[in-house]
Amino acid sequence: MPDMETLLEQAFTEIPFDESGRHLLEAEAVTGCVLKGDEVTVTLKLPDDEPLRRKISGMVEERCGSIPGIKTVSIKMADGASAAALAKGSTAVPEKGSADPAASQPGPHGSQPHEPQRPTSNIYLDNYDAVIAIASGKGGVGKSTVAVNVAVTLVKMGHTVSLFDSDIYGPSLPIMLGLRNTRPKIDGNSIEPIRKYGLDVLSLGNLVEEAAATIWRGPMVHQVIEQMLRDTNWPGGDFMVIDLPPGTGDAQLTMSQLCDVAGAVIVSTPQDVALLDAIKGVSMFQKVDIPIIGLVENMSSFICPHCSQETPIFSKGNAQKAAGQYNIPFLGRIPIELAIREGSDNGVPVSTLDEDSTAAQAFRSITETMLRELEALG
Ligand SMILES: Nc1ncnc2c1ncn2[C@@H]1O[C@H](COP(=O)(O)OP(=O)(O)OP(=O)(O)O)[C@@H](O)[C@H]1O
Ligand SMILES: [Mg+2]
Repeated sequence: MPDMETLLEQAFTEIPFDESGRHLLEAEAVTGCVLKGDEVTVTLKLPDDEPLRRKISGMVEERCGSIPGIKTVSIKMADGASAAALAKGSTAVPEKGSADPAASQPGPHGSQPHEPQRPTSNIYLDNYDAVIAIASGKGGVGKSTVAVNVAVTLVKMGHTVSLFDSDIYGPSLPIMLGLRNTRPKIDGNSIEPIRKYGLDVLSLGNLVEEAAATIWRGPMVHQVIEQMLRDTNWPGGDFMVIDLPPGTGDAQLTMSQLCDVAGAVIVSTPQDVALLDAIKGVSMFQKVDIPIIGLVENMSSFICPHCSQETPIFSKGNAQKAAGQYNIPFLGRIPIELAIREGSDNGVPVSTLDEDSTAAQAFRSITETMLRELEALG
């Protein structure tokens, strides 16, 4: 039995958008699809043509409603939505003026069917001295842990820092910062970042309900990230740290296109498989002209909290070797420590606690090296 995401995608591909034969996905007419229990909310971006809107909405209702397991289908129009609607669980993208790439009508017949409409200039977050992306090709290697602790360390050094969670598939910053169920203030279409540990933070996890299973396609990823960049009242300052999802996909491309990223920090564990993915990440950033600030080796070795003996579980040192091979600065290593994992799960990053702990020192040393390398990039 195919999963619900596949069934919904299939339903959208069975609904014709126009006479040229394009279906709803090819026409990029579905900008949001949120599944909660047996209820699905579909956001549609359709031309301002009332009969067409009624016809397509009816078909979506009927086709999605016939999927076993779906009892209620709610339809929203993207142009009638607001940031407040997003906070209630909609993935709709408010459309503002003609400069908004997401607001443009679907491209002419024959254009790339799944390519989102994208801007040609970098426009967001230009009120920060440096936008730093924390990335890796592989999942679960510690990107979010590094992003949070580096951001907190920068604050401790006296910088003004914001932190943006661009992982819209699995946003983890709300948990790591103790901001579960915390909602930002929303005034009309403007979202105020949440203040925590001296940071200005926003994550999609603070806008949609945690339990909402969210289905995103490439163009939607672009639109949701753009909305969070555009509609958030980012205060500006010294650094914007961006926590990226794993891989080299849409979120990475979107960030490179929508902001002037000063550089990327690549996180890897020392195993070969992780390093292979890290190198893929490096070449992806190089292709989109984002400089690599350096490589961090996370989970280098395990230090026993009882006897202090060090065990190199994942062959400590491999990331440093790889950095040398590929001519990338090595920023330092972080041991596997219970305190780091507990800090993440409890919403109290280890760097906010004892500054003399091994973990906090490791993050401090990495942050200092990162700043030196960033400066060297000019
Ligand atoms: N050095 C470390 N010591 C102990 N636990 C760690 C360490 N680094 C990360 N972890 C734990 O590993 C898990 C994965 O870390 P994290 O969420 O930061 O990875 P990620 O790369 O952001 O994952 P994803 O790809 O899902 O976004 C978390 O539970 C985190 O607390
Ligand atoms: Mg993460």
